[in-house]
Amino acid sequence: MQTNEKKVLLRIQDVKQYFPIKKTHFREKQKYVKANDGITLDIYEGETFGLVGESGCGKSTFGRTILQLYPQTHGEILYQKDGEWVDLKAQDRESMRSLRKELQIVFQDPYSSLNPRMTVGQIIGEGLLSHGMFKRGDGAMKDYIFQIMEDCGLSTYMFGRYPHQFSGGQRQRIGIARSLALRPRFVVCDEAVSALDVSIQSQILNLLRDLKEKDNLTYLFITHDLSVVKYVSDRIGVMYLGNLVEVSETGELFENTMHPYTEALLSAIPTTDVNDRKKERILLEGDIPSPVNPPRGCKFHTRCRYCQEVCTQQEPEWTNVGKGHYVACHFPLGRKEK
Ligand SMILES: Nc1ncnc2c1ncn2[C@@H]1O[C@H](COP(=O)(O)OP(=O)(O)O)[C@@H](O)[C@H]1O
Ligand SMILES: [Mg+2]
Repeated sequence: MQTNEKKVLLRIQDVKQYFPIKKTHFREKQKYVKANDGITLDIYEGETFGLVGESGCGKSTFGRTILQLYPQTHGEILYQKDGEWVDLKAQDRESMRSLRKELQIVFQDPYSSLNPRMTVGQIIGEGLLSHGMFKRGDGAMKDYIFQIMEDCGLSTYMFGRYPHQFSGGQRQRIGIARSLALRPRFVVCDEAVSALDVSIQSQILNLLRDLKEKDNLTYLFITHDLSVVKYVSDRIGVMYLGNLVEVSETGELFENTMHPYTEALLSAIPTTDVNDRKKERILLEGDIPSPVNPPRGCKFHTRCRYCQEVCTQQEPEWTNVGKGHYVACHFPLGRKEK
């Protein structure tokens, strides 16, 4: 299906998230960590949008900013609800609270995000009560939680147990059950499987896929692991130092890589394919520059093996090169020979 036939669920326009840095001297100029530095993206209903990039490039900040866990410094985030555009930044506390039911997040570390003093039943039930889906003491709530637990692969006898009595994979299922019990439309999965063993990872990924198909969910799937993102995503966005550098459908990104940073990331994926073994592994040289004082021009130029004079001076434009494939590069790579 062509992406232009799909319905836009979230329209993100030139979003910036700058965190002020504590001054060491009162006369010092205020400096900022430019964690997100002008991101424009449509997220379509029903898709899994994978977001990749090295640690510290601003992925979590982006997910949290969409959900208004941090108000954005600049730009707009529009959410399509009942055929109308809702400007998330303009919502007051109360309306944002009710929207939050529809806009959920699953965190990487279920250890720190699950209250150790609450049972699984209480953890899942808490949101149901606070969003008014059930009244306290309603017997139907327990049946509802049992159903969600089963959907998430948790046995119902676990209802009265505490998080520490579970394995990492099971705790992640509890975190997922807690979010999905609210019947959200959009879920940010922030490194949701990164802390798990590979075999458990694939179980959780399959669970997330099944739940998505059942409820027509939309995921923003954040990970630093390209092999995971390739497996789950309809489209992928590659982030570098607070900006998207490339966005495309998953197959197209791998077959027709346009950005030198994407090329380097892809070349680092371990492969079992014999034909692929010969492919060159591109080492990214140098450290990631600071998001406080990012390089001028193309932010990637300090590590780019194709860097030219113009790249050091002029910021490349975000360009649609066809079929919804976007890239920000002065010299995008051509279609590769097979
Ligand atoms: N609440 C915050 N306050 C100040 N700086 C932050 C905050 N959250 C993230 N940062 C900084 O923003 C940058 C992006 O961080 P993050 O979004 O966590 O990246 P990622 O998820 O890609 O690893 C980092 O330099 C990080 O130190
Ligand atoms: Mg993160």
